[in-house]
Parts: sequence; structure tokens; C-alpha cells
Amino acid sequence: MRSFYHILHSVFIFALLISYNPALCKRYKYTVEELIDAHLFWLEPAKTAFSLDIEPISYPDKCELKQLHLNTRHGSRLPIPDDISYYYTLIIKRKKYKNPFLLRNNFQLVERGELEPYFDGLQSRKRYAKFWKGVRYSPEVIKFQSSATSRTGASSMAFSEGLFNGEGPLDICKSKPVYVWSLPTEQDYILQPHYACARWNQTVANNNTVLNEQLYSYGNKTLKPIADRLSKEYNIKPHLDPNLLPYMFTYCQFYVVRFNRTDTWCSLFSPKELLLLRYYWDLGSYYTLQYGDPFNQRLGCGYYTQLVNGVEDYLNGNSFMIADIKNSHGFTLLILFTTLGVFKEKEPLTADFTYEQIKKVRFTEYVSVPWSSTFYLEIYTCSDDHNKVLIRALLNFKPFLIPGCKSEYCEWETFKKILGDKIGCDFKKMCAFP
Ligand SMILES: *[C@@H]1O[C@H](CO)[C@@H](O)[C@H](O)[C@H]1NC(C)=O
Ligand SMILES: *[C@@H]1O[C@H](CO)[C@@H](O)[C@H](O)[C@H]1NC(C)=O
Ligand SMILES: *[C@@H]1O[C@H](CO)[C@@H](O)[C@H](O)[C@H]1NC(C)=O
Ligand SMILES: *[C@@H]1O[C@H](CO)[C@@H](O)[C@H](O)[C@H]1NC(C)=O
Repeated sequence: MRSFYHILHSVFIFALLISYNPALCKRYKYTVEELIDAHLFWLEPAKTAFSLDIEPISYPDKCELKQLHLNTRHGSRLPIPDDISYYYTLIIKRKKYKNPFLLRNNFQLVERGELEPYFDGLQSRKRYAKFWKGVRYSPEVIKFQSSATSRTGASSMAFSEGLFNGEGPLDICKSKPVYVWSLPTEQDYILQPHYACARWNQTVANNNTVLNEQLYSYGNKTLKPIADRLSKEYNIKPHLDPNLLPYMFTYCQFYVVRFNRTDTWCSLFSPKELLLLRYYWDLGSYYTLQYGDPFNQRLGCGYYTQLVNGVEDYLNGNSFMIADIKNSHGFTLLILFTTLGVFKEKEPLTADFTYEQIKKVRFTEYVSVPWSSTFYLEIYTCSDDHNKVLIRALLNFKPFLIPGCKSEYCEWETFKKILGDKIGCDFKKMCAFP
């Protein structure tokens, strides 16, 4: 989903030995784990993704967990069409080396990506053991929603298998069929607010002059020496275009995702170079989904409006819904965090960042929301103080403080005040363009 980055590069013939047989030049050796653990990729380390050693939740005395809201990034997937077309550019004129990533499989979940959401379902059961105990699936009580894409729909289904494993009537695994609803993408103000918003599309995703300048300058300054090194080392003529390097980075990532291999494109780059290449994509997510564009601080308002209604309808006795389980995208999660005002870097990300500064980047898509990341919002009522309502937010089971709240257990009224007029926003009007 990065087709909107405006890449300034001239078409050229890439006569690189590596493209002929990437396995020939193993300059740098890595294990899969060390690359994943360094937050270089969108893969969650296996030790948390597939762990069933999950501590049940603990919470304040006299409080009761009443409702769960979950939004998960879909599982690990194959590259997008834009990546794939660059892979063909990278290996042009090479007959023996075949690009293993086919257009017809673009965006599809890999096997690991089917397992991750299934494990997310199993983990939810264990973490919220008391909450789920005795709960039978009913579409009025537990809502499943995904964006209108195959990877999120399939991830929702896998999650439900983990959650209701063995509680249904189907076949030997006793699967339970569940209903997963979606809105069409161009109307999905909840889970794909970016694509449902013409204004975002026209001003943030496309024609984003600030981002284009940053990427251009980063390519010309920071990536160019890496392109020059490769050109020299592998005798590439004309010199490698620095703007192709970020696609060599994703090529490396997808060899790990799909084939569990680090000895192809990954082996071309030093650890430092890999991080510098990742930062190119970090800049992209910062300026299109996060604080790099102020519009993103409102774009997630549709989700929070639905959330507030979902909580209050239940607490007021107007709905039966105790869990709202959604499956969406890295894009969605970053927009929702930015709209909530959390996960802001200390300084705005720019092309001038030094390597030391880049190492400290904490909240971009690559660093903080790997595939199958879970964003839970827990709703409590407490009997001590006039049936006070509390909300707590967690990313990948780690609670975080919402700025403006006194503690991680935030008073419901304070939470609503923080969101202010984002609750009840007029999404259509906000997104009209021009
Ligand atoms: C988004 O912008 C692109 C390029 O400007 C345009 O081709 C496309 O139709 C737009 N999509 C929507 C949904 O507005
Ligand atoms: C892109 O933005 C600039 C100003 O930032 C504007 O002048 C130009 O018309 C826009 N182009 C398109 C295609 O919207
Ligand atoms: C790239 O940067 C160099 C030095 O900073 C500058 O001289 C050059 O003009 C830039 N390249 C382009 C095409 O702007
Ligand atoms: C990936 O390869 C490593 C060895 O490099 C191996 O330990 C691991 O089990 C493999 N993982 C999968 C999913 O095949």
C-alpha cells in the first residue's frame, strides 16, 4: 500500500550480478531472528506471536472488565503490486533469475499470516480468561468486523477459530461459524478512513510535497552512498539509482516472510544500511499516517465515534455487545493512534536525521505495529465510586498512557474530553475535496 510514494527514478538496466543469482554474494550473514528482533521487518518475533504462555490480566479491586474492543493488524502477507513491479525492474534482463513473487498472489496471507491471528485468538482467551468464561458466540454479543480485503477477512476468521476453538458443531475440530461484517472500502470511515477520504487521498497520500521533498533529500543524501558502494562493488553501470534501494529492502523482507531466507537481498546490506533503508519507509508512514501531517490527528474520528457509541449503548442497556473484534491494517492503527494523540516521536522525523537519531525512532509502522499487532481497549466499571467507568489501552498487551489521562486506567469522561469534537465528527464534510 505504498503506491503513492512518488519515486523519482529513471528507468535503467540493472545489470547486477546479484540479480542473476542473489545467493552468490553473501556479503553479510544474518539469522532470521536477528533481523526480526531488530525491528527491521513487519514480522513479530515468534516468541510473542506464537506464545501460549500468557498471563491472565489483573485489574483494580472492585472493578469489572465489561467490554473489549480490539483492532488487529492482519497477519503476515506477500508483497503489494508496487513492490512486485519494482522487483521486475531490479531483475530486468536476467533470464535465469526468476522473481518468485507473482502479481496474482499480491497482498495474500502467507501460512504464518494465517497462524498469527489464530494465535491472537488463543491468546485473547488466555489473557481475558475470566471475561470469556462461559461466553457463547452470538453475533449480537460478539461482533467481528474487517475491512473489505481478503487478508483482513481471512485474519478475522482465523482469530475466531482461536477464540471459539472447539465450541461449534462443525466437523472434527468443532469450528464455530461467525459473521464478519465489512463496509465497502470507499465508505469505510471506520477501518479504512484513509481510502474513504478524498481529502486524505489528494493531499496527504498524493501530492504530499513535504514528504516528496524529504524522500528526495534522503535518497540523494543518505541512500546515495549505499547505492555507490553497491555500484562499485558489483560493477553496476550506470550507477544504481538510490531510489531503488528501498525496494531491495522490501525484497529482502519478503524473502524472509515467504521463504525464511536471509541469504538473498538481505545479505547485500550491512546492519546499519538495513536500518537506514527502513527509515525511508519510516518517513513515508510518518508523513502519510502520523504526525507528519496534522490532518491525521482527525482522520480516525469515525472509529472513535463508533467506539464511544458502542461503549455507551452497552452501559446504558441499549445493546448486548460485550466484544467488538476488528481486523484492519497497519495504516489504520497508525491513524487511530495519531488521532488519539499517542505515540508521538520526540522530534518530527526528517531526512536530516543522523544514524544515532534513526536508531531511536520508536513509533513508526516498522517499529511498533508488526503484522497481527493487537490494539485493545478495555472498558471497566467499578463499584466503589458511583459506578465509575474506566478505559485502558494496550498495544500488543502493553498498556500505554493516553496523554491527558491520570493513569493507564483512564476515566471514561476524561477520555471523551480528550477526544473532544472528534466524537461525532462529520466525516463526509471533513473529507470533501477540494
Ligand atoms: C486518489 O488519488 C489518485 C491520484 O491522485 C486518483 O487517481 C484516485 O482516483 C484517488 N482515489 C480516490 C478514492 O479519491
Ligand atoms: C499539488 O499541490 C500544489 C500545492 O501544494 C498545487 O499547486 C497543485 O495544484 C497540486 N496538484 C494536484 C495534482 O493536485
Ligand atoms: C544531490 O545533492 C548534492 C549535494 O548535496 C547536490 O549537489 C545535487 O545537486 C543533488 N542532486 C540533485 C539532482 O538535486
Ligand atoms: C527458519 O530458519 C531457521 C534457521 O535459519 C529455523 O531455525 C526456523 O525453524 C525456520 N522457520 C521456519 C518457519 O521454517
